Amino acid sequence: MLNREINEMLSRVGPGTPMGNLFRRFWLPALMSNEVRSDSAPVRLRILGEDLLSFRDSSGRVGIVEAYCPHRGAPLFFGRNEQCGLRCAYHGWKFNVDGECLEIPNISESDKADMRQRARITSYATREANGVVWVYMGEASKMPPFPKFDYASAPDGQAYAARWLQRTNWLQGLEGEIDSSHISWLHRDFDAESSKMKSAGAQLATDAAPLMEIRETATGYTYGARRNLNGQYFWRQYHWVAPMFSFIPHAPGPFASFGGRAWTPIDDNHVNVFTFGYRNDRPFSKEELETYESGALFPPRMKAAKFQLPDGYLIDTFLPVASKENDYEIDREMQKTVNFTGIWGVHDQDRALAENSRKLGGADPGILDRTKEHLVSADKAIVTARRSLLKMVRELQEGIEPGFIADAEAFRVRAISKICDVASFDAFIETYGEEAHVRRSPSR
Ligand code: FES
Ligand SMILES: [Fe+2]
Repeated sequence: MLNREINEMLSRVGPGTPMGNLFRRFWLPALMSNEVRSDSAPVRLRILGEDLLSFRDSSGRVGIVEAYCPHRGAPLFFGRNEQCGLRCAYHGWKFNVDGECLEIPNISESDKADMRQRARITSYATREANGVVWVYMGEASKMPPFPKFDYASAPDGQAYAARWLQRTNWLQGLEGEIDSSHISWLHRDFDAESSKMKSAGAQLATDAAPLMEIRETATGYTYGARRNLNGQYFWRQYHWVAPMFSFIPHAPGPFASFGGRAWTPIDDNHVNVFTFGYRNDRPFSKEELETYESGALFPPRMKAAKFQLPDGYLIDTFLPVASKENDYEIDREMQKTVNFTGIWGVHDQDRALAENSRKLGGADPGILDRTKEHLVSADKAIVTARRSLLKMVRELQEGIEPGFIADAEAFRVRAISKICDVASFDAFIETYGEEAHVRRSPSR
C-alpha cells in the first residue's frame, strides 16, 4: 500500500514533478523510425506530459519538437515538411529539427533577426537505433551517453521492436511487467504444450510456488525465480533497469535471446509501450517474426491510428484491436476450456486487467489507486522497485544524480534461464552473472 502522496509522486511525470525530473535524466524510446519519412507528415506525440511532434527533414534527420507554433499557438502538425524544416500552415513561419526558426515571412526585414531568435521552439535530442527513435528531454548539460542496450546496438535483423498505447499510468505498466506471480494465473493456458508462453519456458513451470529472490544492482535489480523440475532447478533470471525497462528470459539454455519492455510515459494517465526482442546468435527467422506480428504475445494485434486523449489532444500511435470498448474480446466459453481469462493474446490479458483496475478517477483515469492494496510477499519485486524509485527521486531532489546512467555499458544486462543444480540465487549469479552481465555493487 502507498499513501496518496507517495502514489502520486511516483506516478506523475509532467514538467517539474519529482518523477518527471528523474525521467528527464534518461534516454527514452519515443516512436518507430519508419513512422517518420523525409518531407512527410509529422507524428503527434505526447511524452512526459509535453505535446510534441516528430518529423524527418529532407536530409533524413529526425526531430522531436514542441507541437505548437510560437507565433500564435497554431498546431504545427498541419504544417508543410519541406526543405529541411516544418513550415506552419497559418502564416508560414518555419522551424528546423533543432527548433531554430528559419523564416518569418510576415514581418519586415528589420525585425526578422531579433524575432527569429525569440521564436525558437523547444527541441529535444534524438538518436535512432534499430528502428526506434529515442529522445532525451532533460537539461543538455546532464545528457548521459546513449545506453548500450543489446537491442539498440544489435546487428541488422537481430533486434525487433514495436510500440502501442496502453491506457494506464506508466508505473502500472511497469508493475505488471515485473509482477511474476500473475503469470501462473492471468496467462495460464490449460494445455501447457500449446501455451503461448512456451517460448518463455511456461511448459517447464509446473512448480506453482517458485522461490523468488531479488538482489539490487547498479541499475535497479535482478530477480530470480527458482522452480523444481525433475530433480533439478529451473531458474529464470530477470532484470529491472530504472526507471522503466524490463528484461525477460526466453527458453532455457545458453544465452541466445530475450524480450523486454520499456514504458515511456505519455502523460499521467497513458503510456507508450515498447516491446524489444534480441538475438545474439543470428537474425530472427521468418517464423519468429511472424510470432511477434501475430499478436499472441507482444506486441498485441494492433493498427496504426490516432487517439484522442481526454483533454482533446490527438496522438498518433498504434491501437490494440482488443480494447476496453470490446471487453478485450473475452470469450466466456474459451475461459472454461482453453485459458484462464478467455482473452486471446498475452498482452491483451495484461491490458484488460491493467486498464480496468481501480483508479484515482476524476481527472486521473489512469493512475492506479494504491491506497487500498493488500500487498503480500509475492509482490516483493513491485515493492522493491517502488522503494528504489522513491529513493532515486528523493536523492535527485537533493542533487544526487542516478550514477549508473553515465555508464552506457551498465544497460547491457541479459535475462537468462537455466536448468541446473545451483540452489541459491547468489550462487546462480556467481555462476552465470557474466552471461547475464549483472553488476552487483550498486553504484548509485
Ligand atoms: S501561428 Fe504559426 S505562423 Fe502564425
Ligand atoms: Fe503479464
